[in-house]
Amino acid sequence: MAKRPYIVGNWKMHGTRAMLAEARAIDRAAERLPKADVALAPPHTLIHATRLEASLIGVGAQDCHPADGGAHTGDVSAAMLKDAGADFVIVGHSERRADHGESDALIKAKAEAAIAVGLGVIVCVGETEAQRDAGEAEAVVAAQLAGSLPQAEGAADKVTVAYEPVWAIGTGRTPTIADVTAMHRSIRARLEAIYGAGADAVRILYGGSVKPDNAAELLAADEVDGALVGGASLTAESFLGIIVAAAEPRRRFAAPQPLLRMSGKDPSSAHPEEGLSLSKAHLEGLRVPRACRARRARLNATPEPL
Ligand code: 13P
Repeated sequence: MAKRPYIVGNWKMHGTRAMLAEARAIDRAAERLPKADVALAPPHTLIHATRLEASLIGVGAQDCHPADGGAHTGDVSAAMLKDAGADFVIVGHSERRADHGESDALIKAKAEAAIAVGLGVIVCVGETEAQRDAGEAEAVVAAQLAGSLPQAEGAADKVTVAYEPVWAIGTGRTPTIADVTAMHRSIRARLEAIYGAGADAVRILYGGSVKPDNAAELLAADEVDGALVGGASLTAESFLGIIVAAAEPRRRFAAPQPLLRMSGKDPSSAHPEEGLSLSKAHLEGLRVPRACRARRARLNATPEPL
């Protein structure tokens, strides 16, 4: 993991305002772990509130429409997401490819629309189990990259790729480290073919059943620059276990011990020996830097015109 690690939580269709406490705890803990970039992608309904609660971490959306605006009932444009406080948008997640029949061309159009308004994009790719069993995994992913990566001027600076094998999502199964490494090297080669020298700026995340107890091993694999995390990003406790694995790889994660007690019953350090000394009281008391307070104040004020 030569690049600065990037750990992104994809909350999918989970979360009401009650979950903002998790975002706040993640934001405050991320300040103590400056060696990793951390972001959350809550549902659209929580983007603005998450931005207000969490001023240090990135906040993103899980999808956007490729058009600037118009008669598209129920859809949300990239400009709207930016206005709500998003920094980036995830496009081409396999759940959208499957549930909504999204094509590579549509995903590319969404990515280009997002970049046009200044958002970053996380472009998701990944093979099904049948495709892997047929020995087609790398070819499938290469075709998805060729069809769905944005090509606009300077796009490489805005793009992150997430490799998420469909069969590993939400199943508790992960590929072997050798398979993850081979796929990420293959993606790196495709990125170099598409973006040339610009490919160096692109981080490649692994996603699919990343948990606190397997994160360190996955994140140590060659060309794995971070993780896109679903289920384990829904609580600060488990998400922070993954962030620690990225930011402090030599600090062993003590799996069964709670990293944080969100109930607040035991505010003592959850990792007496090797873990974080992040108690609830500690997290609540963290000072928010002046630049972030200013950003928060701006976000609370009248929205700036786009
Ligand atoms: P899980 O971490 O729940 O397997 O989900 C992965 C994913 O789809 C993230 O986008």
